[in-house]
Amino acid sequence: MQVHVFENAQQVGQAAATLFAAQILRKPNSVLGLATGSSPIGCYQKLIEWHQAGILDFSQCVSYNLDEYCGLPVEHECSYHAFMQDQLFHAINMKETHVPDGNAKDLNAECKRYDAAIQAAGGIDMQLLGIGRNGHIGFNEPASQLTYGTQIVNLTESTIQANRRFFESEADVPRQAISLGIGGIMNAKEIVLIAMGEDKAEAIRDTVYGDINPMVPASILRTHPHVTILVDQAAGKLL
Ligand code: GLP
Repeated sequence: MQVHVFENAQQVGQAAATLFAAQILRKPNSVLGLATGSSPIGCYQKLIEWHQAGILDFSQCVSYNLDEYCGLPVEHECSYHAFMQDQLFHAINMKETHVPDGNAKDLNAECKRYDAAIQAAGGIDMQLLGIGRNGHIGFNEPASQLTYGTQIVNLTESTIQANRRFFESEADVPRQAISLGIGGIMNAKEIVLIAMGEDKAEAIRDTVYGDINPMVPASILRTHPHVTILVDQAAGKLL
């Protein structure tokens, strides 16, 4: 596991974008695993900039997002479909983009379909991850057991509170989500985890130094051979 602590959040975003840019230049038909939340925004801005400057071409790339809320219309401004459209997809030329369908009639079938689609695409080459304050990745909340495939998860109080800022009221924050499991994340050939801000410092410390334990889902990443963690000084202050 490589850990880099940068002075500020902007550098974290640029470093993450650099790794993705190298991946796309090396393998133009990469399968990219993408994430939502505020952390990846700087990375996406750089990718857009480099695309517009003619450096990056996504026309052979396909992307699979980590997760989506359940029961939130895709047009809702807080849906991860809408987020990805606004923050990245509208400005680049990705061949195909995929986000799990949190409104599927049969959510269990949707979970299976999503895993099969990733597998059929050849698996994820590079997965971008943020991290929750409680160490969650995707929407894999602390649990006594590891999750494997894509599944429906109940969000914890900590995550509902953290995500409340995007919604009008707490009651509007969905309580369930569909998320790639830890196993699905671990299947990615390379993983890039980014974190900014002091409220991520404990989760980053526990990920890097704590017990490898599903109660801190990101700690499982220590068993993956190719993980790079990029943090700013605030998120890295307990390292
Ligand atoms: C949500 C997402 C995660 C993300 C986390 C942190 O829970 N499902 O993928 O990592 O939020 O978000 P932020 O980057 O806004 O702190």
